[in-house]
Amino acid sequence: MDIGTVTGPAEQTPRTPLAPGAGIKEPEAGVGGRNAPPIGGTTGSAAYGLEDGAEALVRFLAGRRSAVVLSGAGLSTESGIPDYRGVTGRLRPSVPMTFQDFTADEANRRRYWARSHLGWRAITQARPNTGHLAVTRLMRSGLVSGVITQNVDGLHSAAGAPETIDLHGRLDRVVCLDCGDRSARARLDERLAHANPGFRDITAATNADGDAELPAARTADFRIVACEACRVGTLKPDVVFFGENVPAERVQRCYDLVDPSFALLVLGSSLTVMSGLRFARRAARQGTPVAIVNQGPTRGDALAALRLDLPLGQTLTALADRFGA
Ligand SMILES: NC(=O)c1ccc[n+]([C@@H]2O[C@H](COP(=O)([O-])OP(=O)(O)OC[C@H]3O[C@@H](n4cnc5c(N)ncnc54)[C@H](O)[C@@H]3O)[C@@H](O)[C@H]2O)c1
Ligand SMILES: [Zn+2]
Repeated sequence: MDIGTVTGPAEQTPRTPLAPGAGIKEPEAGVGGRNAPPIGGTTGSAAYGLEDGAEALVRFLAGRRSAVVLSGAGLSTESGIPDYRGVTGRLRPSVPMTFQDFTADEANRRRYWARSHLGWRAITQARPNTGHLAVTRLMRSGLVSGVITQNVDGLHSAAGAPETIDLHGRLDRVVCLDCGDRSARARLDERLAHANPGFRDITAATNADGDAELPAARTADFRIVACEACRVGTLKPDVVFFGENVPAERVQRCYDLVDPSFALLVLGSSLTVMSGLRFARRAARQGTPVAIVNQGPTRGDALAALRLDLPLGQTLTALADRFGA
């Protein structure tokens, strides 16, 4: 499976990851938000350790009625799912398949599904970590009014989050490109296993993103299956590939969540992809303060009223504890 194929609009998502900060425009007017509180006189991250970082987050959120969370791959690394551009992602060797490549050629689809079929095992074994659980606690306490996630692993839901907007879709669902039927990935997994008994005992090394390493010779004879609803349709994981757009209706639902919120909390995203960055930009433009908790630089750092370079699991747990969530 190739989680790295999942991303935002084509025009804004290069096939080769941008270096963090690449392509950033000059900071927009109102950066940081007119209501952004001065925190320690700095937005720099080096100043904060775990304890004072959690305290700074408490101060950031205190008095604000609700915050919206925008999460990224960094929130799931502690569950063993590598990210795309962080430390775990740097070793990632393969180039994501584009939507155009996927739809153009059945050989590409064989390759995709063969590798994905093996990689899926690793994804189904992943469990929510303390960061996901803390976000759920903050939601239940009312401090977080909603979650927009760029992740496709379903771990917010597995952690009991009442509701999330899955910006880039979900790997546990499959969509038919012909009739539009949506079905469970578990069902497809059974069918692919049945059609490819020789794959049962293959243990391939798995790339950082869960895309199993298989030489082309092994994927060429992988048997893919058609949609069960229309019998002929091409099946694709229900995620947004490189070269695809996030549906406009879904983007609008995110704006509807962000616009009335009192703060935006970015968790574990490099914000390299415009698909996520646009919400930070929109919040900052509207004077809604943005806080970013991320190890390593992000493309939204100039927008942030508070910037913490800290590990998410411990930081979010400390935050939820301090709020008694
Ligand atoms: N889990 C998943 O579903 C998954 C995994 C990989 C990629 N993707 C997809 O690829 C794209 C990646 O963009 P992105 O911005 O979400 O991810 P990204 O890989 O670009 O950035 C992740 C950031 O999180 C940081 N990070 C990693 N572990 C952390 C931790 N424990 N604590 C704090 N920070 C940590 C990294 O240093 C990095 O800066 C998204 O569009 C997403 O759909 C999804
Ligand atoms: Zn169909």
